[in-house]
Amino acid sequence: MITMPKVEIVANENGPNLVMVDGKAVAALCRCGHSKSKPNCDGSHRTSGFTSPRAVVNVLT
Ligand code: FES
Repeated sequence: MITMPKVEIVANENGPNLVMVDGKAVAALCRCGHSKSKPNCDGSHRTSGFTSPRAVVNVLT
């Protein structure tokens, strides 16, 4: 039997969108707009004043 991985997008409070596969973060994507290495988060959200609530989206696989 093949089991599909559990994939979620977790919008961290005041931080990046984390792509989670089976509970492990495999990518951190910028959502503040200040990263110098988009689409990846480079930590700039910490000094940019970006604020946003946490949210979780389950991805159907
Ligand atoms: S969310 Fe981290 S640099 Fe934009």
